[in-house]
Amino acid sequence: MTKDDADPVELLRASAGVPFTKARAMPPEVYTSPRFLDGELEHVFSKEWFCVGRASALSGAGDYVTCDLAGQPIVVLRDRDGALRAMSNVCLHRMSTLLHGRGNTRAIVCPYHAWTYNLDGSLRGAPAMTLNEGFCKSDYRLPQLRCEEWLGWVFVTLDPDAPPVRARLAEVEELIADYDMAGYHEAFFETHVWDTNWKVLAENFMESYHLPVCHAGTIGGMSRLDEMVCPEGRAAFNYHTILKDGTLPIALAHPDNSRLEGDARRTTYLLAIYPSLLITLTPGYFWYLTLHPHGVGQVRIGFGGGMARDYAEEPEAQQHFDRLKALLDDVNVEDRGCTEKVYRGLCSAFARPGHLSHLERPNYDFARYLMARIAPADRHKEAAE
Ligand code: FES
Ligand SMILES: [Fe+2]
Repeated sequence: MTKDDADPVELLRASAGVPFTKARAMPPEVYTSPRFLDGELEHVFSKEWFCVGRASALSGAGDYVTCDLAGQPIVVLRDRDGALRAMSNVCLHRMSTLLHGRGNTRAIVCPYHAWTYNLDGSLRGAPAMTLNEGFCKSDYRLPQLRCEEWLGWVFVTLDPDAPPVRARLAEVEELIADYDMAGYHEAFFETHVWDTNWKVLAENFMESYHLPVCHAGTIGGMSRLDEMVCPEGRAAFNYHTILKDGTLPIALAHPDNSRLEGDARRTTYLLAIYPSLLITLTPGYFWYLTLHPHGVGQVRIGFGGGMARDYAEEPEAQQHFDRLKALLDDVNVEDRGCTEKVYRGLCSAFARPGHLSHLERPNYDFARYLMARIAPADRHKEAAE
């Protein structure tokens, strides 16, 4: 069998089935195969909770954000009653998409013939429709989707049966209970597209093994491999921790913060919430990526961040944060370089997965998560029967 006709799901099953002490990186086909991507869209992105950003970015009536989730155009907005709503972003007339990007609107006006919807998705009006006897305005309402807020994050899902976010992520909440994550305020949000598979970028986030080398021009010198802790992952997420020194004061717990003690005051959690919400949570600030595949070779990235409530009112902290944002931009240039190089390497006929370091434990857990979602043993059995 040549590399092109090997079944990437079977390759993953074989790769992720070995114990961590002998584990290797995932096979290249898992990243480059359009067939595997179809499986991800069907079994991962159509089933899981997908994060569209922070609730504080949708604080006013009519604030909205759009996304394409597993091929479905979706809008998430704050309605007139103050509730977050997710709806299909497809017009009920001749099916144009409705809103684009992010912004604020009083009503949803279709850019094609101006059918106009209220913020609850009901049709408010449609020009020149009085002569069609079958048309009745009240028959029209944009299909509603599930949308939940958890610790300030906004999630949507296409799956009516997905367990609630709070239940799915209860262990995360417990782990970082002392961080007051709900109180972190978003100061920036950007979107980007990079030329790499979404999992390459997700996995890049899951290990800090690359910091001293890939980030030699920025934060590499401050990174200590011996201070990285990489515990076993959980069903819905993995994480590792690193320690910050005082180079950037807002990375440390605020002097008034009495919740965190000892080393916890300088501990950063790197949380990878499956499938694709990646949060760097320090005691004083956070930044995050929310990822969605865009074909096999590109990833759509939402990139946001801000400071903890403790620092919110301090002008000096704001200056530190501005410095941090400039640094993160430089760090991202380095990550982009590394992850795009990895994707080019993965496309080679000579690409072979090597063994993982103990500092790549989260990567192994991520591979096993994907296997469980895309190739669970029972579906495997059904296919064989
Ligand atoms: S497609 Fe939306 S108004 Fe015609
Ligand atoms: Fe990095």
